[in-house]
Amino acid sequence: MTFGAGVLTTVSCKQPLGKSESGAHMRAYGERSPFEGPVRVIRELTASPGTGSSRTPHAEMYGTITPSALHFERHHSGVPSIDPAAHQLLIHGLVDKPLVFTMTEIKRFPSFSRTYFLECGGNSIGEQSGNTQPDVQRSHGLLSCTEWTGVSLKEVLRGVGVKAEAKWMIAEGADAGRMARSIPMEKVLDDALLVYGQNGEALRPEQGYPLRLLLPGWEGNANVKWVHRLQFADAPAFSAKETAYYTDLGKDGKAQIFTFVMEGRSVITRPSGLQKIVPGFQEITGLAWTGKGRITRVEVSTDGGASWGDAVLQNPVLPLAVARFRFPWTWDGKEAVIQSRCTDETGFLQPTHDELIDARGSNSGYHYNAIKPWRVSADGSVTHV
Ligand code: CO
Repeated sequence: MTFGAGVLTTVSCKQPLGKSESGAHMRAYGERSPFEGPVRVIRELTASPGTGSSRTPHAEMYGTITPSALHFERHHSGVPSIDPAAHQLLIHGLVDKPLVFTMTEIKRFPSFSRTYFLECGGNSIGEQSGNTQPDVQRSHGLLSCTEWTGVSLKEVLRGVGVKAEAKWMIAEGADAGRMARSIPMEKVLDDALLVYGQNGEALRPEQGYPLRLLLPGWEGNANVKWVHRLQFADAPAFSAKETAYYTDLGKDGKAQIFTFVMEGRSVITRPSGLQKIVPGFQEITGLAWTGKGRITRVEVSTDGGASWGDAVLQNPVLPLAVARFRFPWTWDGKEAVIQSRCTDETGFLQPTHDELIDARGSNSGYHYNAIKPWRVSADGSVTHV
């Protein structure tokens, strides 16, 4: 096999090029091909600088892992720049022995890596009220899935001795707004992690560098970034982000607070909004996830929900991670409505939009997880329904 001369031509690149001993051009830190274009849609809240979000471009992603550079972001007071050598984690409150940990000390605990999805409690918030978005990035992009590396929080707490009266852990970040959330002890002692690694390297600053709390399957906001303080208490803090925000106003006008678990959900990512297809074979693919364990089944309908067929799930299906599904389809060139629905290991079946509104009302858009239909028009263009 021979390579064309063009293959070895270096391309313009923002990264500095170094030279190895043999003289070959090397990049000190890798960058994707300049021919690749997917980027995150950024929404900054100009009224309050430093807040806002960016969304994963799911229509152009493969497999189940989100690259760190395309992981969604949601910030409430900007991204702090933290020197890990100066970062400390204070653990105090209802404990036998308050302690301060440096990052070096945190990294001395036994470490492990797990793949988990992370989803903002406000992902798809507009879909509930009918403010549907034109593409899957805008409608579902506050979801990502990566491999996290860190230590078991339970393990770190052994030396601190949390008192029996402690029912809540208040986790606070070192961002300007000191974003804080109250976490029930059951989750703290179950599978909560303190993570410093993501996809094989250090966390990105936007993901909480150098240390973040990770609560598998729970709404993104509770996974406090830049965590620098864990206080044990007999009552929650009732912080701004768990009272004024991230609460669910029901149809009876009463708000539910401390709703953490992200329930089962799926969405077709290809073909999806703003894409265009041609008649003939078309693989339908997408993602399914649940904060209650494993996805056990994904079904796809190509006739507006009249009939459903089983999609193939890519193995292994990991608990609390996204599952990739695929469904072969031959499009006949006529208008069609395609959609997916998932079932998880608790038997939960993803509801339709109308079923969800019947059950919850439409006062709050948090935890929206209804089926998302896409319309394929006769010209092949795909739009939201
Ligand atoms: Co919630």
